[in-house]
Amino acid sequence: MRVLSIVGARPQFVKLAPVAAAAEGRVEHLIAHTGQHYDVNMSDAFFADLGIPAPDVNLGVGSGSHGAQTAAMLEGLEKVLVETRPDWVLVYGDTNSTLAGTLAAIKLHVPVAHLEAGLRSFNRRMPEEQNRVLTDHAADLLLAPTDTALEHLSREGLAERTVLVGDVMTDVLLRVRDAVAGHPLPVPGIPPGSYHVATVHRPDNTDDPDRLRAIVEGLSRVDGRVLLLAHPRLRGLAERHGIDLGVDGSVTVSDPLGYPQLVNLVANSRSVITDSGGLQKEAFLLRVPCTTLRPETEWVETVDLGWNVLVDDGFDRLGTVVHRPPPAPTDATPYGTGKAAEAAIDALLSRRPA
Ligand code: UD1
Repeated sequence: MRVLSIVGARPQFVKLAPVAAAAEGRVEHLIAHTGQHYDVNMSDAFFADLGIPAPDVNLGVGSGSHGAQTAAMLEGLEKVLVETRPDWVLVYGDTNSTLAGTLAAIKLHVPVAHLEAGLRSFNRRMPEEQNRVLTDHAADLLLAPTDTALEHLSREGLAERTVLVGDVMTDVLLRVRDAVAGHPLPVPGIPPGSYHVATVHRPDNTDDPDRLRAIVEGLSRVDGRVLLLAHPRLRGLAERHGIDLGVDGSVTVSDPLGYPQLVNLVANSRSVITDSGGLQKEAFLLRVPCTTLRPETEWVETVDLGWNVLVDDGFDRLGTVVHRPPPAPTDATPYGTGKAAEAAIDALLSRRPA
């Protein structure tokens, strides 16, 4: 059986790693990279660090408006599908690469499986919510990461196409956590356990200059050093709006890190402050408290279990929210136990359309 994985953005390379490993020896696995992310530290570094085979094709689409970017991917992926004729197309998460891969495949009657199906923020302003809802309703097989995702899909009439497999990001996180344990990443001048890790990249937080300024000023009020790992979107928009991300040296701004370094940094941090979906969950799995700069989250289990607090305005309160009392310890495993990628390959093999 031939499976074509379509990926394009940083979190998808992380999800691809355990899937590529689980596919080995069981299915023929091809990888198409749209080129949505192209900087070395947003793309190639992930393939190298996580031992992912090089993509069979890279469309080199790059950045652009949503319409232009998605359209270029659609055209390129159609050709890839005609040439490779896979038994399954596997799409990941919620990016423009996911939607383009899904559309290209269904028009050619190639079955589509959606990994990380059923997540919902119920915020239709988010491009990610648009992409994931459309993909779920178009795909043939929905690989749900959690019971909550399963419930969302049932409510939308998609239960028959759904299989609960667990979260593949958890597979890779647990593996990397164990590999880096006991070797804290050195941060010049800052002892392990004393700093906070921050990321901001969602359009809702970066595109309005007043909001972005309020967020970085909020970060500067947090007690303890804040390390802001700046996504290229954040750097670009801060520069355009004349915003000093370092707030006169009180926030330490650095480039994005590779995956093992990020996991290591977070594992040894006091807390995480982010608008990333993946990082909220990684913080929980590493049992590091998280503050999420959004009105809602797809990973509701992190909030329900007390490890994540949402902050959507009044960013001058960030210092207080971040220093809240620690959450109650838990051994809950809402994201599975590290076997999701194998379960996903099992589902592809057993649900292969006639
Ligand atoms: C995308 C995904 C989002 C995911 C995120 C992870 C969509 C709609 N959004 O958002 O779901 O959480 O990736 O990072 O697909 N850029 C670079 N170098 C790169 C990549 C991007 O400089 O390697 C810059 C581009 O100039 C662009 C900006 O970052 O202006 C945004 O990139 P884009 O791929 O459009 O969306 P992301 O914000 O990364």
